Amino acid sequence: MKIIQISDLHITPADHLLFGSDPLRRLQQCVQHINRHHADADLCVLTGDLTHAGHPLAYERLHAGLQDLIPPVRLMMGNHDNRAAFRRVFAQERTELSDFVQYAETVQDWRLIYLDTLQDGFTNGYLCELRLSWLQNELARHSGPVMIFSHHPFPNLQYPAMDWLRLSNASQILPMLKAHPAPLHLFAGHVHRCASGIWNGLPFVTVSGTNHQHELDLAHEGAATSTFEPASYAVILPNAEGLTVHFQPFDYLELRFPYTGDLGQLRCM
Ligand SMILES: [Fe+2]
Repeated sequence: MKIIQISDLHITPADHLLFGSDPLRRLQQCVQHINRHHADADLCVLTGDLTHAGHPLAYERLHAGLQDLIPPVRLMMGNHDNRAAFRRVFAQERTELSDFVQYAETVQDWRLIYLDTLQDGFTNGYLCELRLSWLQNELARHSGPVMIFSHHPFPNLQYPAMDWLRLSNASQILPMLKAHPAPLHLFAGHVHRCASGIWNGLPFVTVSGTNHQHELDLAHEGAATSTFEPASYAVILPNAEGLTVHFQPFDYLELRFPYTGDLGQLRCM
């Protein structure tokens, strides 16, 4: 089983650059890399901020940009998205709550839960009572291992520039997650950086954006500073022993060399 996570595409309408870059071109590089190396993935999950300003023309460009991606795609909402504009282009996308883009599915032994943490008009995320009760019911119905995908991270990442904009009622939801009887992994975007760790006993991962990143200035408070540090996607590999996440850059000179080293010094005990 292999799941790819891409995040924070920030696609713009044609001729609208973002920080001097065309986010669609960056996405195309990502798609080509995934097709070359991970065409066998079961799914490719896009954890929100699909567009930069929720413009219908940006969703149309996104739709075109995803046509070549080989693995099946799952699309999620971020704070830069607009559900109505999204629905006009992606009318067939699944949801189990009509006013949101939120649902779940089973892939092999894992339950994959896609949360809609968009709170219209706000940058931070929020799960209202309707979305929360759906999540509670979903966790109660499936006692096996779970991956929860959300745009906004649940954890405080010890990163002040983005922590104030995370999922604002995460602590309210924590007991529900902790009560789950099987492994539960959290995957998010929003922070435009790759990070991993443990939040109150729950493992989490965040992945960078495909277009731009946020500078890792741990003393900076207020809005983050954007950069063009290398972009990555995550390759999530569950197996019988647990789960591994690899972070894969996709915008680099793809030269490869045999690793020989000094074989006389290599020993396997
Ligand atoms: Fe973003």
